[in-house]
Amino acid sequence: MHIIVTESYDASAAFVADMIAELINKKPDCKLGLATGGTPVPIYKKLIGKNAAGEVDFAQVRTVNLDEYCGLAGDHDQSYRYFMDTNLFDHVNINKANTFVASGLGDPAANAAELDAKVAEGGPCDLQLLGIGNNGHIAFNEAGDCLKAESHIETLTESTIRANARFFEKEEDVPTTAITMGMKGILSAKCLVLVATGAAKADAIRQLVCGGEITTHNPSTFMKLHPNAWVVIDRALADAAGYKG
Ligand code: F6R
Repeated sequence: MHIIVTESYDASAAFVADMIAELINKKPDCKLGLATGGTPVPIYKKLIGKNAAGEVDFAQVRTVNLDEYCGLAGDHDQSYRYFMDTNLFDHVNINKANTFVASGLGDPAANAAELDAKVAEGGPCDLQLLGIGNNGHIAFNEAGDCLKAESHIETLTESTIRANARFFEKEEDVPTTAITMGMKGILSAKCLVLVATGAAKADAIRQLVCGGEITTHNPSTFMKLHPNAWVVIDRALADAAGYKG
């Protein structure tokens, strides 16, 4: 794994935005796997700036998102479709027909099959952007005794519900289930880029970057099996995690 330690979270966001822009410039019709949550927001802001400055062109870019809450329609202001539209897609010259966020409504099995089909369509993602939960989850593959290969519906853990309550009016409003890309879909990407900041992630990041252990109790550790995986953390998080590299 490539472990990059930056001076600040803004520098991490700049590093990852540059990586994504370079990929698009090299392969204009590349396929990106995208994430939501607080972490990618500054990365998307930088990409919007680069697009406005004529430094990167999204016209042919294709995207697939990792996950979506069950029970929220795409126009709900806490749905991940809405998040992607308002934080990135509405502000760059991407063709929205080339973007995919799974549906959180309707038949869960059909939605999961559709997500896996989109992950496979036209070949693997050139780059999969990832955040990490305080418990080590990637997408919504939660920490526990087993993980699933295929896309599926996941029951969110208390830790995840608590962490995501900050985006909702009250904790009871956070959906308790979500549709998520499975571990196979994530690991099928040609390149994985996980970005993290904040002391709450220190334990999860310690297991990821210090030592060689792989465990279902920290799904991010499966990144160690991938031949082209990047972890981008700022110095404060690296110190909190005890990373000495
Ligand atoms: C979101 C996702 C999640 C988040 C994780 C961290 O699409 O896949 O795994 O990346 O919950 O969320 P933030 O960035 O809000 O700390």
